[in-house]
Amino acid sequence: MQPDLQRRVQRYGWDKAVDFYDRAWRQQLEPGQSLMLEKANIQPGEHVLDVACGTGLVTFQAAELTGTDGEVTGTDLSDKMVENAARFASEKNITNVGFKQMDAESLSLPDSYFDVALDAFGTMYYPDPVQSFREKNRVLKQGGRISVAVWGKRDRCGWAEIFPIVDARVKSEVCPMFFQLGTGDTLAYSLKEAGFRDIQTERITTKLHYDNADEALGAAFKGGPVALAYARFDENIRREVHEEYLASIELFRNDIGYAIPGEFVVGWGVK
Ligand SMILES: C[S@@+](CC[C@H](N)C(=O)[O-])C[C@H]1O[C@@H](n2cnc3c(N)ncnc32)[C@H](O)[C@@H]1O
Repeated sequence: MQPDLQRRVQRYGWDKAVDFYDRAWRQQLEPGQSLMLEKANIQPGEHVLDVACGTGLVTFQAAELTGTDGEVTGTDLSDKMVENAARFASEKNITNVGFKQMDAESLSLPDSYFDVALDAFGTMYYPDPVQSFREKNRVLKQGGRISVAVWGKRDRCGWAEIFPIVDARVKSEVCPMFFQLGTGDTLAYSLKEAGFRDIQTERITTKLHYDNADEALGAAFKGGPVALAYARFDENIRREVHEEYLASIELFRNDIGYAIPGEFVVGWGVK
């Protein structure tokens, strides 16, 4: 897929996902976000960058860790995500965060300014993940830390059929390289290629819990990366994709809903 097209699909897709995102993913992504934050080891007073901040689930936790002597900048490609996070900060009077719309591969931020760079579950969506790590490297001070979380191997993510199901009905794939970073040592190699040292990674298995089929469908189709394609489907196509997706996760249905397996990889290192 052309990089510009991929960015447009992401930008406007996540705009559509904004109102569904927290409900669909807050609890599901928490184990990966927490491990990423633990490995970042944020200290009071530090300057923290949170790339692909979305609604700010990680940004606001980072802001608590760095305290009012520090500051956190959240950036995201989606204007609606950035607006939503900024509104929340203003409503809650959280003064040590700021949000800006920008592409992870081209950060309009100064060199050597941040102590810590974070990215939770954004990197799989970028056309060039290594370039996004180079940009984080550029804006970090010497000795600054990076900590990122991505999805793991495709065959450990029980919800993965969502992509071929949607791709079969659109002109170009939604997330062509989605599982690449979570396969083998790709994340560590990519961080190294971007100039980081002392790189470590940890893989964690998890379960995505949904109370019922509607919740599972909402998370998959409305709250995530296929939201743009889904918004353009008519009622018949929607019915078809719902049926196919529910069939693909049937194995993971239990008495109280769904427990879909997932895997995260967290990687961290130093500039
Ligand atoms: C799964 S959400 C993660 C949000 C947040 N980090 C969290 O953990 O809840 C992925 C985010 O990546 C953003 N994104 C996708 N492509 C991007 C790009 N090229 N540059 C910056 N952000 C991007 C989307 O807009 C979306 O908000």
